[in-house]
Amino acid sequence: MMTENLYESYKLLFNKEADPFYAFAPGRMNIIGEHTDYNGGNVLPAAISFGTYALGSKREDGVIRVHSLNFPEDGVITFHMDVLDYKQEDGWANYPKGMFRYLHEAGHFLHGGADILFYGDIPNGAGLSSSASIELATGVLLTSLFHLDLERQDLVLIGQRVENEFLGISSGIMDQFAVGMGKANHAIHLNCDSLEFEYAPLMLDGYSFIIMNTNKRRTLVSSSYNERRQQCEAALKQLNKESNLSYLCELTPGQFEKRKHLIVDPILRKRAKHVIYEHGRTAEAVKKLANGDLSGFGQLINESHESLKYEYEVTGEELDTIVHTAWKQEGVLGARMTGAGFGGCAIAIVKNEHIFAFIENTKKVYKEVIGYDASFYQVTIGDGAYVCNKKPMIQK
Ligand code: GLA
Repeated sequence: MMTENLYESYKLLFNKEADPFYAFAPGRMNIIGEHTDYNGGNVLPAAISFGTYALGSKREDGVIRVHSLNFPEDGVITFHMDVLDYKQEDGWANYPKGMFRYLHEAGHFLHGGADILFYGDIPNGAGLSSSASIELATGVLLTSLFHLDLERQDLVLIGQRVENEFLGISSGIMDQFAVGMGKANHAIHLNCDSLEFEYAPLMLDGYSFIIMNTNKRRTLVSSSYNERRQQCEAALKQLNKESNLSYLCELTPGQFEKRKHLIVDPILRKRAKHVIYEHGRTAEAVKKLANGDLSGFGQLINESHESLKYEYEVTGEELDTIVHTAWKQEGVLGARMTGAGFGGCAIAIVKNEHIFAFIENTKKVYKEVIGYDASFYQVTIGDGAYVCNKKPMIQK
């Protein structure tokens, strides 16, 4: 293992010193409330200790140069403030580029350009919002470098715009919100319609969150994701034969049961059912957490997974194997897939003294059934994106 000083790398790469502060933006896990954000529902995500670091310095000629220590083979990617268009060959650099573009369009003065170095320790492509993390790391770094007058929620919305308009993924607001607004030892109970939120203390004494990465490549995620979103819109349209709802989550489960006959297609009915029940489950889970009913909380987490498996159909063999195996282990409060699904990660809440055996056993069964290894990470819940003045020492 090599310890690398990002400031040294910066100097070697760009032949000048970075400004003496760095930005950090975490990844996120979602505890419950899946595929509800784009349906005006509740979510309960939290920022995790993994994230993206960014350091930089301003330029004066309008050029932007970016490099990521995670993609050294891509070299230094260069573009200009005058041409901030999406380019497939720019790969990961489209995330910072999109941030430059929409900050610029919102009237923020970034004209001189900048040289930025990124390094992230979020497992890549695992559904832990590494993209939102790069967006927000860029956003908070530029806010400091250029002294921009921006509320944090503005940055969050600009990050979502990069995803939706620059990258063409119709994702909701959850990821950028969690990455931008997270708070240590708390989850964010967010209503994605009004953007009203409260911090829910994660009072899980004696338990830890374990992220279980199926290591399944998330192929076709964006097309399947966009398809689910369209199905929700189609279900809403059918329900609206007799109402005027803006979002599926305006209905309670009881109201849905009375009106579900309006949705003719059984697949669309299943999609709507998941969304509406999941919205209710999320508020319920927050109450159970506040009342210290940990087993009730865990039960709702398990129910969420089953609904994502049977009604929303976004789990797949790998996620189901890892979650169902996790449920059978001693000391497990609950487990479910997290994020968009179709591979990627699941989470489990595990009693501390059982973590070692939990990982050993779950790993073994997963390999036997799926044929390759899963990875496990014990995470702590950290703060949302911030700028810091000390130089980080990164373990690589
Ligand atoms: C992805 C999207 C989020 C959300 C989740 C599913 O992570 O980026 O907006 O829709 O999937 O809950």
